This record gives sequence, structure tokens and C-alpha cells, in this order.
Amino acid sequence: MKIFSGIQPTGKMHIGNYLGAIKQWVEFQQTDDCMFCVVDLHALTIPQNPNALRKAVAEKVIELLSVGVDPAKSILFVQSHVKEHTELAWMLSTLTSMGELERMTQYKEKARKNKANQNAGLLTYPVLMAADILLYQTEGVPVGKDQGQHLEITRDIAKRFNARFGKTFVEPKTLFPKAGAKVLSLKDPKKKMSKSDDPESYIALFDEPEAIRKKIMSAVTDTGKEIRYNPERKPGISNLLLIYSLMNGKSIAELERQFKTKGYAALKKSLAEILIETLEPFRRKQKELQSRELYIQEILKQGAKKASSLAEITMKEVRKRMGLLGNE
Ligand code: AMP
Ligand code: TRP
Repeated sequence: MKIFSGIQPTGKMHIGNYLGAIKQWVEFQQTDDCMFCVVDLHALTIPQNPNALRKAVAEKVIELLSVGVDPAKSILFVQSHVKEHTELAWMLSTLTSMGELERMTQYKEKARKNKANQNAGLLTYPVLMAADILLYQTEGVPVGKDQGQHLEITRDIAKRFNARFGKTFVEPKTLFPKAGAKVLSLKDPKKKMSKSDDPESYIALFDEPEAIRKKIMSAVTDTGKEIRYNPERKPGISNLLLIYSLMNGKSIAELERQFKTKGYAALKKSLAEILIETLEPFRRKQKELQSRELYIQEILKQGAKKASSLAEITMKEVRKRMGLLGNE
């Protein structure tokens, strides 16, 4: 299957990103045809410091390589290096209605949070995302729950284009993980874990052991003492059990049995050690890659080259079908 997915360069990658999306990326690349993209143009919808953004993009690439994205198996590249993303986004925007963009949950949330900066890019964000995906004839998109709606609009746009101009795009499937599609905040387990919240609310993949211990021990739990998986009644403990289970492979039922009589503190202590242990190889790899600037540049150069040649095939077709006069 042809797989495409993206991640924004800004903010720290956390265990929500990992369990919801990136872990699947690493698995899919063993068997499928994968492309992974650092979406720097999407990040521009929030005001960025140019130097900090440049650094963040390089840092995100290092993070992805550190957790197992393998440039020998997948195409890894930066969105702005392949100009066709913005070209296709423009074309698709003419097939997208204002109303459907205004209905997007993420847009409504971001517009509310950024009252001082309600730029048009916040609204057209999903069109650029649809372009990212459709450009490569993508069949499957591994993402977390929060991106489900953006995938629906991507399929709608593809359908509309195909109906009007003839079959050009594949309608991509959304690939949610079996569990972990929505990892919750450690501070407020009714909300998703988010890198734009207080760092105490998430475990970053490259957090030092002391920070991991501190954050897990102070994670918000529920009243009572019982260790039981019940996302409705016990969202805090259920979230910790889920993270535990996904990080070390034990089933939730097994964990409930193991910690039944032991109490919240014992569960938290053990989870902190599991996280420290499983994240340690990522931290080690990150430190090693941080000094290999040329190697990273070369990966991105190759990635952009491969992606561009695929993108150009689709764009030739799109330009022709939409009636643009070629000049070759
Ligand atoms: P972002 O960091 O917003 O670019 O998201 C990168 C990927 O991580 C997307 O596929 C998101 O759906 C996924 N993701 C982000 N936060 C969470 C979360 N709390 N739980 C599960 N998946 C998430
Ligand atoms: N909007 C996605 C997010 O915030 C990132 C993204 C951009 C993406 N383009 C994509 C994800 C294409 C999957 C496919 O997480």
C-alpha cells in the first residue's frame, strides 16, 4: 500500500504523537511504500520565529530518524522542498467551499485560540493537507484521531475532482492505530495530550529520566484507589494503563491484575521506569545524530528529489485535466 503521513516541525514530539502515529509509520515502512513529511508550510499558520523554525525542522527530522524512520526504506522529506504541494493546494482550493472549511473542528479551535491572528492559512490548512496526500496517489494515511476529519475532507475533495475532471486521484483510507489514537493529557485526562500545552501535561520522547519520573508521579488520577481500565469513570488511570500497555506490550487486563492491590503510586513508579527504559535508545540515537548535519542534509536532499519526481507525474496530469496550457 502507498502510505503518506506528516508531522509539524514545531513543538516537542511526545508519546501521543508516537503511539498515535509515528509508531505505525515505523511499522508500515517494513512492508509498505512509505513517504513521511515534515510539514513546515503548515507550521506557518501560527506566527513563527524564522530562525527557530529552521532549527525546528532539522530537529524534527532528527527526532523521526531517532525513533526509527529509516531513509533507506521510506522517503523522508520537508514539505516546502517540493513546490508541487502548494501548487496542488491552490488548485484544490478552487474545489473546496468556505462552508466546509469553516466547519472543521481544528480550524474552529485554532481560530478561537488565535484571535489576534485569524489568517486565511488557518482556514485553508486542510486543503494543503489534502494536496500533501493526493499528490502521491496515497492509499493509506496513518494518523491519530484528531486528524480524522481532515482525512474525510481529503476524500471529499478527491471525489469532487475525479467527478469533474475524470479519475485522477486515489481516495485515501484513514489508518488509525488499534489503540492509542487519542492519548490523553497527564494534567487533564479529558483532553488529548498536546505539544502546545504545558510541558507537564506530556512526556516528550526525548525527556530526561528525572523529568519523566516527575511528570508521571504528578499525573492527575481519579478518586478512589482501584486500578481498573474504565475511560469514562477513570480517565486518568485508564490513560496511564493504556500508555503502559502500548509501551511494553502487556495487555491491559494483565496490568490490572498485576497492580490490583498495589495502588496508584506503584503503577506510576513502574510506568515511569518502563518509559525511561523504552525511550532510552531514542535519546541515545538523537544525541548521536545531532552532530551529523551533513548526513541529515543529504537525506533531505535525496528525499526531496524522489518526492519531486513522483509529484511531477501527478501535477502534469492535474494541469492538463484542469485545462492549463502546457509549455513544454
Ligand atoms: P502533530 O504533532 O499535530 O503534527 O501530529 C502528528 C501526528 O500525531 C498526527 O497524526 C496526530 O494525529 C498524532 N497525534 C497528536 N497528538 C496525539 C495524541 N494525543 N494522541 C494520539 N495521536 C496524536
Ligand atoms: N495536520 C497534521 C497534524 O497536525 C499534519 C499533516 C499535514 C499531515 N499534512 C499531512 C498528516 C498529511 C497526514 C498526512 O498532525
